[in-house]
Amino acid sequence: MGTPDVGAAKLKAQVAIPKKYEGKHMPEGGWTDPKLIARGKEVYTGKVNKKVKCSKCHGKKGKPKAKGARDFRKAANMEKFSDTYWFYRIADGVPKTLMKGWLGKITEDDIWAVMAYENMFSHGGKPAVPDKSKWAAPKFK
Ligand code: HEC
Repeated sequence: MGTPDVGAAKLKAQVAIPKKYEGKHMPEGGWTDPKLIARGKEVYTGKVNKKVKCSKCHGKKGKPKAKGARDFRKAANMEKFSDTYWFYRIADGVPKTLMKGWLGKITEDDIWAVMAYENMFSHGGKPAVPDKSKWAAPKFK
């Protein structure tokens, strides 16, 4: 157990994912694909769409800047996200927070790209395949 933080507490109560996201997964080889990761960096830093600048709130290296954003550098915060849940949160956002839904402003492919990039923050800055055995089982509504 690390130091409890807002992010980790909230993560315990993962919300149900809309059915339309069921079956969505990181493309084969995506987590470690250099091209996808390079694209993900461009998304993250607002080069793809300047209105979508993840780094503004989540920090260039995953250290949170916005109030309530979890520390992406902590594996304990990130490893419980299944790819499907993670995708859904970026696509639809978190209601009543600064985290908007970004799908539409960026494409589905770019969400996978930004995930592959963000995943490095909790893996020493290197591409890594997440350990699926730690994922919280996604629930659908
Ligand atoms: C304007 C600030 C802001 C921007 C821009 C932003 N986020 Fe967030 N994000 C937040 C905040 C605040 C939270 C925490 C919401 C909560 O759970 O209360 C969050 C949460 C998250 C989460 C965790 C979701 C969960 O269920 O806890 C992920 C993953 C994430 N953001 C990824 C991204 C990505 C990728 C982008 C760019 C495409 C992005 N964010 C852009 C503020 C932002």
